[in-house]
Order: sequence, then structure tokens, then C-alpha cells
Amino acid sequence: MAEDGATMFKQKCGTCHVKGGQAAPVNPADKAAIVWNKFFQRGRHKVDFSQTIGMDDLQVIVQYLKDHAADSDQPAVAVIPR
Ligand code: HEC
Repeated sequence: MAEDGATMFKQKCGTCHVKGGQAAPVNPADKAAIVWNKFFQRGRHKVDFSQTIGMDDLQVIVQYLKDHAADSDQPAVAVIPR
């Protein structure tokens, strides 16, 4: 099922990363594309979310994060409000 990266980001990352939630809000423009590219690959995310976010979904989300990263043409700063 081809789901939109922005929707998946909000739904899946946003379950924890939300104001008043388990983790602080995150947004694509928090990091440069190259950083997003390596962040999950290198296991920088300390919390295991493999139960809720599969590898296929993660790829779609990371592509979305890169497309709207700090150094992209369309940085997204407040998809998840702070
Ligand atoms: C099960 C809950 C959960 C899910 C789902 C989750 N995270 Fe996290 N994430 C955390 C926690 C907890 C931390 C550590 C928070 C801290 O250090 O304050 C964290 C840390 C991070 C950090 C490091 C903070 C920073 O500023 O460098 C980033 C970036 C991040 N998550 C992005 C994501 C993205 C993108 C997704 C979706 C693919 C995601 N997270 C899904 C709980 C989650």
C-alpha cells in the first residue's frame, strides 16, 4: 500500500514524538538530508520501534524526511507542532 510519507511520519513517529508525549516533537527540518540518511542506518535511534514501523515504512518516511530536511528546497519545520 503506497502511503504518503508525511502521513506515515505523523502517524508512526508521532505516536511518541508529540508535544507532551514520550519524546520531544521531531521534524524533517531538524536535520540535514545526509544526517537523516545515516541516522537509522547507523542505529542512532535509541528506542526500538520495529514492532510498529517496518523497514519498508521506514524507507518511505526517511525519503520524506530527506525531501523536507533543513537543506532541502522545502524544509518542514512544524509537521509535528512543538
Ligand atoms: C516508541 C516511541 C518512538 C517512536 C515510534 C519513534 N521514536 Fe524517535 N525517539 C523516541 C525516544 C524515547 C527518543 C529519545 C528522546 C530523547 O532523547 O529525549 C527518540 C529519539 C529520536 C531522535 C533523536 C532526537 C534528536 O533530536 O536527535 C530522533 C531524530 C527521532 N527520535 C526521530 C524519530 C523518527 C523520524 C521516528 C519515526 C520513523 C521516530 N523517532 C519514532 C521514541 C520514539
